[in-house]
Amino acid sequence: PVLVVDFGAQYAQLIARRVREASVYSEIVPHTITAAEVAAKNPIGIVLSGGPSSVYEAGAPALDEGILKLGVPTLGICYGFQVMAQQLGGEVAHTGHREYGATAVTARTDDENALLGGQPEAQIVWMSHGDSVAVAPEGFEVLASTATTPVAAFANDEQGFYGVQWHPEVKHSEFGQNVIENFLHRAAGIPADWNSGNVIAEQVARIREQVGSARVISALSGGVDSAVSTALVQEAVGDQLTAVFVDHGLLRKGEREQVQQDYVAATGVRLITIDAEDTFLDALAGVSDPEQKRKIIGREFIRAFEQAERDLIAEAAAAGEPIKFLVQGTLYPDVVESGGGTGTANIKSHHNVGGLPEDLQFELVEPLRTLFKDEVRAIGRELGLPEAIVGRQPFPGPGLGIRIVGEVTRERLDLLREADAIAREELSAAGLDQEIWQCPVVLLADVRSVGVQGDGRTYGHPIVLRPVSSEDAMTADWTRLPYDVLAKISNRITNEVPEVNRVVLDVTSKPPGTIEWE
Ligand code: XMP
Repeated sequence: PVLVVDFGAQYAQLIARRVREASVYSEIVPHTITAAEVAAKNPIGIVLSGGPSSVYEAGAPALDEGILKLGVPTLGICYGFQVMAQQLGGEVAHTGHREYGATAVTARTDDENALLGGQPEAQIVWMSHGDSVAVAPEGFEVLASTATTPVAAFANDEQGFYGVQWHPEVKHSEFGQNVIENFLHRAAGIPADWNSGNVIAEQVARIREQVGSARVISALSGGVDSAVSTALVQEAVGDQLTAVFVDHGLLRKGEREQVQQDYVAATGVRLITIDAEDTFLDALAGVSDPEQKRKIIGREFIRAFEQAERDLIAEAAAAGEPIKFLVQGTLYPDVVESGGGTGTANIKSHHNVGGLPEDLQFELVEPLRTLFKDEVRAIGRELGLPEAIVGRQPFPGPGLGIRIVGEVTRERLDLLREADAIAREELSAAGLDQEIWQCPVVLLADVRSVGVQGDGRTYGHPIVLRPVSSEDAMTADWTRLPYDVLAKISNRITNEVPEVNRVVLDVTSKPPGTIEWE
């Protein structure tokens, strides 16, 4: 792999993704990694990330000096560039010239120069630094400068060392991706050969090795991660796999059919559907508090899944084939964020489906552990999964249960399902799916307002549209949807959904609002 050394800012994941976009497999490692541990991973390239500190401050994140002696081509970025300069005999100083944001650099772009060769001399890059490299290490060529930073990029082709003061991984750096690709392909000579096809082949082989001839179960939620992880296991050991889908009655329109028909048709998976709508609605009767709803839905989900599990275990035992494995759709960011990248045992168990039993006696199969979300989608497409599932926006495990403000009833769910289907249909028709991270449609069941429809007065409920744009759901902004699209959605919902006489738009960012209303 190419190792991305994380110096503790938010940039490492972005760098790892950019490297993969260049069709090269990358892994994130903490800066505390030793040279021996790096060597054991057999890296074909190393990228040192940015970070929040000053290299000469006490307690600044350090790098084992042996790492730059392993003979592995290395690219330093921002803080990583300064760490490199310092360890290799250059000089880093606090110049008093802080550069932040879009900055003009003058680059040396003659063809022999592997890193910036072929790019324009004048370009805009994204900077964020207080310290600067004052003197490049001996044997290094200076490749770029800005008005206040004389050494903004350097290279030592013989040793395979490169560095840039700016952040090539952010889109604001005009030729950023090109810098990363030049480092990988031209400077380090790494071929662009990592793609979805390879990942599938590799994961299929791994799953076969892990599972052997034992049986496997998987919980399908209709979401992207569980759909793709299940499809990979199906591809690997199809006749040993049973997928379980719990229909809790809180799904959106068409989701059950998507799983039962389209997904099964695409994968051939053996699917068991648990009809638990009545059980869930009975348990939710009379409950309005959001946290209580979540708890009830989580608990009922576990019950339903455990029942299916007991039935399957009994059936499998009768056939003499014990079930030993459970498929989980854990993604790489979950692994990295919970310290999994460091090799520590603190792995967060990530439950897509709203909570699986804590004490399941299964070994986990996690074929997406090394992948980012967009890669998971690419693999799903390669495996032939329906676009409606692979391209699906995030949807909370408790489903429509937390999109009805007030008590959850069958009638209210039916109203909300219709309104939600209309909004989704119109947003897709307007080509807005890429722009929107997700768009909760919320029924304010405890609110009524006066309206007039036909020649009568109505006293109905409002529907809230909550379209948001986001990178990771941690922060979000409300999406500026075109008025004509909003008008069409509003018209259709008030005409087609009984009891709804008003559509309102949520124009709050997160923070202070959350994405969901509950
Ligand atoms: P909030 O509302 O906290 O949502 O801004 C952030 C993201 O998390 C999703 N979400 C949930 N997902 N179970 C889930 O599986 C939940 O209880 C839950 N609550 C919120 C929400 O849809 C958004 O993507």
